[in-house]
Amino acid sequence: SNQPFPKDFTIDSTAAVLFEGYKFIQNRKHMLNSNIFQTRVMGKKVICISGEDAAELFYDNDKFQRQGAVPKRVQKSLFGVKAIQNKDGQAHQHRKELFMSLMTKDKINELQRITRNQWEMNIKNWEKAESITLYEDSAYIMCKIAFEWAGVPLKESEVQQRTHEYKSMVDSFGGVGPRYQKGKRSRINNEKWAKHMIEQVRDHTLSADEGTALHAMAWHKDSKGQLLDPLMAGKELINILRPIVAISRYVTFAALALHEYPQYKKKIKNDENGQSTKMFVHEVRRYYPFGPLLGAMTRQDFTWKGYDFKKGTLVFLDIYGTNRDSELWDDPELFYPERFDNWDGSGFDLIPQGGGDYYKNHRCPGEQVTIKVMEESIKFFVNDITYDVPNQDLGISLRRMPTLPRSGFIITNVNRK
Ligand code: HEM
Repeated sequence: SNQPFPKDFTIDSTAAVLFEGYKFIQNRKHMLNSNIFQTRVMGKKVICISGEDAAELFYDNDKFQRQGAVPKRVQKSLFGVKAIQNKDGQAHQHRKELFMSLMTKDKINELQRITRNQWEMNIKNWEKAESITLYEDSAYIMCKIAFEWAGVPLKESEVQQRTHEYKSMVDSFGGVGPRYQKGKRSRINNEKWAKHMIEQVRDHTLSADEGTALHAMAWHKDSKGQLLDPLMAGKELINILRPIVAISRYVTFAALALHEYPQYKKKIKNDENGQSTKMFVHEVRRYYPFGPLLGAMTRQDFTWKGYDFKKGTLVFLDIYGTNRDSELWDDPELFYPERFDNWDGSGFDLIPQGGGDYYKNHRCPGEQVTIKVMEESIKFFVNDITYDVPNQDLGISLRRMPTLPRSGFIITNVNRK
């Protein structure tokens, strides 16, 4: 009755995932001429799926769960063991409301003001500097933005260390050996610190303003009415701070896009209702690679498009390939922000930060935060400063996960307009 899954030709694709990086699923999808196929990764059978209807399937909570799908090594470096990313059902929804309570319009407006102000305060340093590596410096600035917005005290002497820790956690996800160890060590250090912050808030030796992430994490009660254990509250605080620092990757890609497609500078400068800047930001998030894929575990047997899925099967959703799927996007390999004019997202098409519903699914609660910080940073680059982009290697390796322009994007001769 039902069709067999098209099969990947290799016996175990572990090496191929690391070698082929972002294009692992896309390469096989094209070779097998199928949006769905079976392979083996780390000795486990995995079904890979790609495209809009695949994303819709992936976010069906009756069919999929996260428990058992997120490898321990990723929890120990990138996410935090047993934090929100690994939860399902009621426990997930309750925890998700905590994150979403920080994403009100007022809080996002405050973030916009903080972002603007941090760029303003930084400009003197840049005017004095001979050359700047945008990825490094923007990570440092994003770190200050993150702590200020989250209501967490941060000494100037501490910024470097915290920035380093969050960068290492993110940088470790596609790495083995030293890169993974660095991420894991950074998490151990940072969790110790974050736990201590939560404890200080609870014993009132550190004040936390209501409405901040620090306050929210410290006083959140689980569905049984208990405060989170301080380490878990610390992990969830990190789940706010770390990804804000990671916006520096998109800020770097946005600067690259402004450099390679300079016609958009004028559009952003003359942008009266903010629409052109928003479309540019969407296109940066669609076009440039960050998260390659997401994993989930089937929680029951079911049939989809004639394929039988057995309970307990690991499934990978192709983020990179869905954002560049020619069934979804005209000329997907073209950087073309105008494609977002009159765009009415389905929730399952543009998925750099996951898909579905913010409250019910694992979709990134920081999507508005990301967009706002990017918009404000891009406006600053276009409207408030001038700079040169010297010759450098701006190539982006798709084998390296996560990736960046190789040079980190160097700028010189920065001046305030
Ligand atoms: C989840 C991407 C920024 C907080 C996710 C997911 C992706 C993602 C792919 C997983 C979706 C899923 O599992 O279905 C990104 C990217 C960002 C970014 C590319 C750009 C830098 C942020 C920011 C925050 C944030 C700024 C917080 C302020 C989270 C949290 C989760 C998450 C807490 C887990 C949500 C859950 O499990 O329900 N993000 N994110 N992210 N993100 Fe982001």
